[in-house]
Amino acid sequence: MQNIKQKFVSFLTYGCQMNENDSERLAGQLKNIGYEKQDDLSLADLIIVNTCCVRESAENKIYGKIGNLKRLKTANPNLIIGITGCMAQKDGDAILKKASHVDFVMGTNKIHEISNIIAEVEQSHGRVVNVIQGDQEMPGDLPTIRNGSISTWIPIMYGCNNFCTYCIVPYVRGRERSRDLEDILKEVRDVASQGFKEITLLGQNVNSYGKDSASADFADLLTAVDKIEGIERIRYMTSHPRDLNDKVIDAIKNSRHICEQFHLPVQYGNDTILKSMNRGYTTDDYRNLVRKIRAAVPHASITTDLIVGFPGETEETFQDTLNFLKEIRYDAAYTFLYSKRSGTPAAEMQNQVSTELKKKRLQQLMDVQNQISLEINQQLEGRVLEVMVEGSSKTDENVLSGRTRTNKIVLWDKVGHEAVGQLVQIKITHPQTWVLKGELI
Ligand code: SAH
Ligand code: SF4
Ligand code: F3S
Repeated sequence: MQNIKQKFVSFLTYGCQMNENDSERLAGQLKNIGYEKQDDLSLADLIIVNTCCVRESAENKIYGKIGNLKRLKTANPNLIIGITGCMAQKDGDAILKKASHVDFVMGTNKIHEISNIIAEVEQSHGRVVNVIQGDQEMPGDLPTIRNGSISTWIPIMYGCNNFCTYCIVPYVRGRERSRDLEDILKEVRDVASQGFKEITLLGQNVNSYGKDSASADFADLLTAVDKIEGIERIRYMTSHPRDLNDKVIDAIKNSRHICEQFHLPVQYGNDTILKSMNRGYTTDDYRNLVRKIRAAVPHASITTDLIVGFPGETEETFQDTLNFLKEIRYDAAYTFLYSKRSGTPAAEMQNQVSTELKKKRLQQLMDVQNQISLEINQQLEGRVLEVMVEGSSKTDENVLSGRTRTNKIVLWDKVGHEAVGQLVQIKITHPQTWVLKGELI
């Protein structure tokens, strides 16, 4: 029998859940060629930096990190350093030119070819670039080494066709491709049999699922996943407000396990800007959607993403957005400073907003939202909520942390018999803006 030397791979993963899942699938394939996962970078034989380029700030941080890896390469010339993910897809061999210690660059459509790429680097000691333009079929099932043991990701589609004018994702992830329904269901059954209790179905626009293959749509998929025994909670992200239809709302309403949580990025609260963003809905369309959701699924939490400082923003359009927040009353909002991405239409638009103004408005937006989040959470005081135990809190071993079905973080003093993955009842005693503190009953 061939004796394979034990080797180690470390991952630095940035960006969204799709990247997290890509890293897990890279780890699964690398294990088959002898690489064990290892968090300590100084012990690694292979370091993979899985990158994001959605905003310039993310990119700068990652380039800084890549620069820092040079000293590890100097200490261990046999170390292989590879850059994968969205920045790799976008910048290609420019990364090799910038960073002489990087051995390979691999695009987002090449996840399933990692073993070949590593073999090529190991044999030739040369530098490899493997970025393709255009899309590619993703193989149905790739070996996966999952982080965690309770909650996990299941990709259902790759790419995005929406071309929001600010966004780089469609350029680096390619066109929408849905995974085969049976492949997805098999993966969910597999993780259920491994003991996972919660899954998040992943896609840039999950409501487009099946539009390219026609065997099932997103509502059908949700209904099928809901029947799989062992999975207690089903989440999904991200839904595009334009495409979330009545059939999906019905499927959620009639399900047992799909959580009452709607992440519905609105991006902005003014129709002129929404049009210029190419989002495909008006504020009124969005209002109607929220009304329907709240009628069908009472107590649902609704969260959003917002961009401040999109080109053409004025004090008036910004005030519209603040008013929209106050009207909808989101449970939480993820807020971003508009970042110019070259190659996107918005980067060429007139009336770019100054950084100073963007920052000032972002702060105003967060102040308004934080107050709303706090008020909504305060209404939960005294209520008893179902919480899935996730583990100890980051700062105190005697405090446990978990989530409600609506995806709110709950902290409580450990009683002793709580097991990770178990559903417990927690009475909320001290609600705050970001967490709910309570006690086990
Ligand atoms: N597909 C998902 C989100 C992908 S990116 C969706 O459509 O909802 C996550 C968030 O990053 C977006 O919702 C948007 O708010 C933000 N974002 C994307 N491009 C950006 C840019 N150029 N500048 C600032 N924020 C951006
Ligand atoms: Fe980007 Fe829009 Fe696609 Fe989301 S839907 S990934 S924001 S282009
Ligand atoms: Fe970033 Fe790529 Fe995700 S750009 S947000 S890692 S799809």
